[in-house]
Amino acid sequence: MRPITEQNMINAFGGESMAHMRYRLFAKLAEAQYPNVARLWRAISEAELIHAGDHYKTLKYLDGGFVANSMGAFGPGDALKNLSLSIAGESFEVEEMYPAFKQIAEFQGENDALRSFDWSYQTEKMHLALFQKARDAVVAGYDVELGPVQVCSVCGYTLEGEAPDECPVCKAKKDKFTAWA
Ligand code: FE2
Ligand code: FE2
Ligand code: FE2
Repeated sequence: MRPITEQNMINAFGGESMAHMRYRLFAKLAEAQYPNVARLWRAISEAELIHAGDHYKTLKYLDGGFVANSMGAFGPGDALKNLSLSIAGESFEVEEMYPAFKQIAEFQGENDALRSFDWSYQTEKMHLALFQKARDAVVAGYDVELGPVQVCSVCGYTLEGEAPDECPVCKAKKDKFTAWA
């Protein structure tokens, strides 16, 4: 992989890994007061694990230690603050990081990296909307009303409701979706 895309991939792996961990921690903290918000964090933490794993596989030719530089949201707090941190992270990925990484990968002809960045990019847009919905509820003083949250085990695509017959991002079949209900 060309060096700039390779470093972007390493950084994306770092970002997805931290997001996975952060959302698991946020879920634990919110469990008692906001069980649906906690369930949303748990489902999305699984999607971030899938993204991290997908990025990781593209780097399997590497051998050694590298520095991963990623946007990280620090200073955890109550559910409202943690939702705001989650929204900040997803917004950064949707508005800044993945569009830029995709453009560079495309310019460099790195198609596997481009595909991996795009699967994450498509998913993060859904995460952003779901976290915004959760934050609106918590601001109003309620747990969010939330149907089953479906995560595609191939690409991480996340949606609320019934699993589609085919994943709109990676085309995996319905049985590849896992529900957090
Ligand atoms: Fe992600
Ligand atoms: Fe995400
Ligand atoms: Fe998928």
